[in-house]
Amino acid sequence: MALILGIETSCDETAAAIVENGQTVLGSAVASQIARHAPYGGVIPELAAREHLTAIEHVTKAAIRESGKSIKDIDAIAVTNGPGLIPALLVGLNFAKGLSMSYDIPLIGVNHFLAHIYGTFIDSATLPFEDESLYPMLALVVSGGHTALVLISKDGSARMVGGTVDDAAGEAFDKAAKLLNLGYPGGPVIEKAGAKGNAAKYHFPRSFTGTTGKAVDVQNRFNFSFSGVKTSLLYHCKKAGGPDEVKDQELYDTIASYQEAIVDVLCTKTFDAAKHFNAASLVLCGGVACNSPLRQRFEATAPQNMRTFVAQKKYCTDNASMVAGLAWHSLENAEKEDLSKGLLLDAYARLPEITRIPFNFKKA
Ligand code: KG4
Ligand code: ZN
Repeated sequence: MALILGIETSCDETAAAIVENGQTVLGSAVASQIARHAPYGGVIPELAAREHLTAIEHVTKAAIRESGKSIKDIDAIAVTNGPGLIPALLVGLNFAKGLSMSYDIPLIGVNHFLAHIYGTFIDSATLPFEDESLYPMLALVVSGGHTALVLISKDGSARMVGGTVDDAAGEAFDKAAKLLNLGYPGGPVIEKAGAKGNAAKYHFPRSFTGTTGKAVDVQNRFNFSFSGVKTSLLYHCKKAGGPDEVKDQELYDTIASYQEAIVDVLCTKTFDAAKHFNAASLVLCGGVACNSPLRQRFEATAPQNMRTFVAQKKYCTDNASMVAGLAWHSLENAEKEDLSKGLLLDAYARLPEITRIPFNFKKA
């Protein structure tokens, strides 16, 4: 049995969790900074860092308290050290280093993007990814920072087969909400307003080429682009006399149709890629995976011969359970020397090339 304390501060959520054997969440706490960033319509990195600093000790204590364990019971500390906002990441990383030194507990750095994929399997009775018949597995990661398709083989090797050439899907929701003065973050308000509208009322453009202005080629086929649909929304509003003139039912129909265009592109591209790569199973995760129309369409229209795994809503947006869960596999696979290097970890902003998913594919 191994207990891991996870710490997450890559963006605007301060989170900590205690997870047993990569699977069972014993305690979890998340402090959201949404109210602090809302006036700016987006996350301000330095402000995020200051907020993390204020919240992190309290959040960590709350997660430990909920678990009924003590810091002395912890076998390893896992901390997100990238990709993310550097000032924000540094708060979690340095706090984790301090704990690691004080209590002499090994420290493991976790890739936030891969943790989102792992979050799909957290808190389930079994860890289904140990089943070889699920591979190749294709994961759609849709968050505020990323929109990507990751193909995972049964030996754990992985590669990105599609990414965004401009905005992430979450940004397309956030920026639309900003344009329409609906507040931040955009995803939840867009979903709420869209539920009252007719998604077939307007046809917003779908980008299926994968690269702006060029013909589809194999290499770009599964890339995403959401800047065009955003511009189209802007012109739609201008035609109506400006964003403030789009209101009531007209606003709901506009939002529902805009959301529909994004969901359509995400599902169509994912299922095309799944067929192309002969995927045996599909994963949907990341903050945008909270979106109900996306979840419903993904589950209802995925190719029937493929198993679908959709992350629970509470593990879609940023949380530390996914971080602690994924780190358990690194702990299982680690040599003693690997674990002594935790204090040398650095924060990084951009997603490195994906070559492996560090899941422990053998039964624990
Ligand atoms: O995974 P996440 O919490 O943070 C990143 O790693 O980026 O994702 C945040 C993103 C935001 O863009 C937010 O608008 C979006 O997830 N989001 C949603 C919904 N809830 C959150 N997008 C669409 N529908 C939702 N219900
Ligand atoms: Zn995230």
